[in-house]
Amino acid sequence: MCGIVGYVGAKPAAPILVDGLARLEYRGYDSAGVAVLGPSEIRLHRDAVRVRELEAGLPKRFGGKTGIGHTRWATHGVPSQRNAHPQLSADGRVAVVHNGIIDNAAQLRAELQADGVELTSDTDTEVLAHLIARASEETTLEQAVLTALDRVEGTYGIAVLDQAHPDRIVVARNGSPIILGLGDREMHVASDTAALVRYTKQVVHLDDGELATLRADGYQTFTRDARTTKTAVTVDWDASDYGTDGHEHFMHKEIAEQPDAVRRILKGRLDERFHTVRLGGLEMDARELREFRRVKILGCGSAYYAGQAGAQFIEEIARIPADAEPASEFRYRNPVIEKDTLYVAVSQSGETYDTLVAVQELKRKGGRVIGLVNAVGSSIARECDGGVYLHAGPEIAVASTKALTNMLVGFALLGLHLGRIRDVSPADGRRLIQALQRLPEQIEAIVGEEEHLAAVAKELAAASSLFFVGRTRGFPVAREGAQKLKEISYRHAEAYQTSELKHGPLALVGPELPTVAIVPDDELLERNLGALQEITARSGPLTVVTHDGVDLGVEPAHVITVPKSEPELDPLLLTIPLQLLAYHAALTLGHDVDKPRNLAKSVTVE
Ligand code: F6R
Repeated sequence: MCGIVGYVGAKPAAPILVDGLARLEYRGYDSAGVAVLGPSEIRLHRDAVRVRELEAGLPKRFGGKTGIGHTRWATHGVPSQRNAHPQLSADGRVAVVHNGIIDNAAQLRAELQADGVELTSDTDTEVLAHLIARASEETTLEQAVLTALDRVEGTYGIAVLDQAHPDRIVVARNGSPIILGLGDREMHVASDTAALVRYTKQVVHLDDGELATLRADGYQTFTRDARTTKTAVTVDWDASDYGTDGHEHFMHKEIAEQPDAVRRILKGRLDERFHTVRLGGLEMDARELREFRRVKILGCGSAYYAGQAGAQFIEEIARIPADAEPASEFRYRNPVIEKDTLYVAVSQSGETYDTLVAVQELKRKGGRVIGLVNAVGSSIARECDGGVYLHAGPEIAVASTKALTNMLVGFALLGLHLGRIRDVSPADGRRLIQALQRLPEQIEAIVGEEEHLAAVAKELAAASSLFFVGRTRGFPVAREGAQKLKEISYRHAEAYQTSELKHGPLALVGPELPTVAIVPDDELLERNLGALQEITARSGPLTVVTHDGVDLGVEPAHVITVPKSEPELDPLLLTIPLQLLAYHAALTLGHDVDKPRNLAKSVTVE
């Protein structure tokens, strides 16, 4: 949510900043801006435009070898030029970019106004520029930033330029990611490695409460009390992973990449000799893991739905009671933290603030929490007591696809591991391992049906409202299908348990309301077929996602089939066609597939 970049070195800063912003645009795209240090003033260019337009409008004279940039997802103040970042101090000497929310901004704004400062934006960030500029008149920039931050309540990742200190950028982190990129006689900073990998693979993650001074020849990290020492880590994602690779959209590319993404998460983790899995990152031995009596999964949005599917898998296979809850609710309800519960935080970005705070709260109260996280070295990954990296590769499209699929695989690995150190037989272990190994090719087959799915999507896109229904294992699939459609096609879509239809929603079923029904060929098939009859009897148009050879007993408008897996893993394959339905519905309606309105990829605010 909001992307920050910064550069200090020997090259012109503006092109590097704009390139970084283009790679961070998925974090927010209401507005964008850059500021560079010219010989005698800060040069500022910002507007309520996408990064490419910002670049096209860059003034001719925009030289400067130190600079900062921002791509915005509006929190305080509508998207407009004056609310775009960087925000300047009244004297134009200090520029600030900020990701996060300053909770006491209204109070600080009132105080500054009472002191005669004329505020020129509606943002919470502007107060920081004024506070830093005032403090820096009497002290170092670093101390001025600390003094200003002492007044601030809320979350921030900030980068600060000061005309009086043209050799440096000062950055600070509290709740919003700040990553330093260590270059050759140049330093970069960004809120995500996506903006850094083109320039360097060596990165340093700041912790909450840490600041850093970046100069061309190096960096120094510190807290209010002391200097700190950091270890650089090497990022294994490549700059080419951040391109569309000939696809029209990132989402399309990421859907197509799923077979490889699944191969990566499985690599080295399947033990065919003992019919179990190896999860070295868990940092807990079998004895410890056997002591857990419950599993509780926490995530937000689609990650929460993946968690619901994961909880069902774990409960079914390992026979441990398991459930999932949105981290965004969990963190606010003072939950009882149980010592014999294994908590699992699931997140693509590893930066979702609600999930991060839930993890921190758990740890504060003595809970054991592991992560299922995609972004290596991210805040959630670092907070957890070990975990399972998802290895889906960078995901850029706002609507999550390949990371979601790998979350489902990750839960299958975890469930199998927990099961094999308890009651699951070697035969069941073998059965599930073989099913996991078949997944990449099965996903390939589903993606190969794109033309058919596009035709179905075209019809569904004409409806203003849709139902998605699924029962037990199929319910998280239905929820994720509805979520994906809502997010990018802006069509109203609601998911229900198929079993709940007759308890209310059936009143809405009729010729105007298409239903997408998830009907796997499993032990609940008969029950699901009954529901199809009920929908058809009320003339509800039906699209059924099912397996080959199932006699549906009705004639749906559309039938989509997926390859059969083991029943516990069916949800994973049933989800894939729903991604393509959403994608093509959004295309049909002419929407910006990768950057849906009002959303951002990484929700790093409350
Ligand atoms: C939906 C989607 C969101 C995310 C949610 C959590 O397509 O992408 O619902 O799943 O914001 O994000 P992460 O997984 O980064 O914690």
